[in-house]
Amino acid sequence: MTDEKAMDQKTAVHRTWRKMPVAERGEGIYLYDADGKRYLDGSAGSSVVVNIGHGVQRVNDAMYAQMRKVSFAAPHVFSNAPLLALGKMVAEHAPGTMKNNSRAWFTCTGTDAVDDALRVTRQYFVSTGQRSKTLYISRWQGFHGNNIAVTGMHGHTGRRRMYMGLNINSPHIPPAYCYRCPFEMTYPACNLKCARALETEIRQQGEENVAAFVAEPVVGAALGAVPAPEGYFQVIREICDKYNVLFIADEVMTGWGRTGHWFGIEAWGVTPDIIATAKGMTSGYTTLAATIAREEIWAAIEKTGVPFLAGHTMDLNPVSCTGALEVIRYVEEYDLPKNARESGAYLLRRLEELKASDIIGDVRGKGLMCGFEFVKDKETKAPFPAAEKISARFQEAAMENGLVLFSGTGCVEGVAGDMMLVTPPLVITPAQVDELIDLLKKTLTAFEKQVR
Ligand SMILES: Cc1ncc(COP(=O)(O)O)c(C=O)c1O
Repeated sequence: MTDEKAMDQKTAVHRTWRKMPVAERGEGIYLYDADGKRYLDGSAGSSVVVNIGHGVQRVNDAMYAQMRKVSFAAPHVFSNAPLLALGKMVAEHAPGTMKNNSRAWFTCTGTDAVDDALRVTRQYFVSTGQRSKTLYISRWQGFHGNNIAVTGMHGHTGRRRMYMGLNINSPHIPPAYCYRCPFEMTYPACNLKCARALETEIRQQGEENVAAFVAEPVVGAALGAVPAPEGYFQVIREICDKYNVLFIADEVMTGWGRTGHWFGIEAWGVTPDIIATAKGMTSGYTTLAATIAREEIWAAIEKTGVPFLAGHTMDLNPVSCTGALEVIRYVEEYDLPKNARESGAYLLRRLEELKASDIIGDVRGKGLMCGFEFVKDKETKAPFPAAEKISARFQEAAMENGLVLFSGTGCVEGVAGDMMLVTPPLVITPAQVDELIDLLKKTLTAFEKQVR
């Protein structure tokens, strides 16, 4: 970026302290900065958001038409038509036995959706006289959001450590992470020990104290696109049922077609009790998130007459609900879950080629939620020292080459390990996958020389 064109970046705090290119416009899978440089958006906006691609005018038009009617309808006294239509549409797309048997609460960000999943769980157990159920079990190397309450619950060390002491530190079980199995076992001989660890934790904590188990079907930011193995969530579901523990699926990244299903959990054929979702629901055209819970959960709360005790000023927003409706219609019309399966399978095949590099240890993913992991030593799987900031540097090098990726760290005990997410918009074509891989390989070839 030339200095003349650079705007003053001192008055708004950014995600890094470095100067960033200024995004000017987007079209399909591409973004353009203020200097006219083109980037292939291999992260779908930022960590799995822009599922339908950039610049889809009909979404903006729909929101503008709503704005001309009413932009904000005081949610303490009004409902609004887009909200009602979206509630119906979400229930129609809900997985398994939640389909047309659930209600959704709409708020602003993925963190809110997760926080509200914890709230609806709590209010359900209070409403049904089970007050002692206060614990939420989650997994190490799982991420669920960034407010201070949720940082106590999730298991992404780098994003929670700072806040310990300010939040309630939830119990955690090991992740389902076959490349670095926490039990040093191999699937399927392991008999899914990582899933059975939930039963051990519930028994140790006391089932009367455990409210819910929270997990991402495919772990995003904290592991770099690691799907749980076949059978994992079936075992989780059985354990939750056995101990009267709710299962909250965090579908903030995996929802709305990303993994080749409308919701990621469908790949395991089980139905959660509550789903938190956001990102792809509006594809980043506006901000909106949803907490979807089974009908009987809401009905139990409703029966008490106490309203759901969540709420932010911007919840239930008619313009945002309109944006989500138009995005979901687009996903339906172009059958983007199908493209996520097809282009995703092709992307994963091509990413496998990266394993020829002696600094790439693993490649994984589901649908168009893919990732890879760096290692310093392929034999021992030893990670690079954290101080070398390998994934952040790779992200920067890719940007230089016109490729947007999302870097992560902490797959090794939360404090080491470098991963990259490769999650392009769901509209990507096989030819564009080739272009992405060319940019990736170009970046990797130069990068290997730097780090060896
Ligand atoms: C699985 C998961 N849950 C929750 C969140 C929090 O969402 P948001 O950043 O919209 O608050 C994220 C964000 O990346 C996420 O990946």
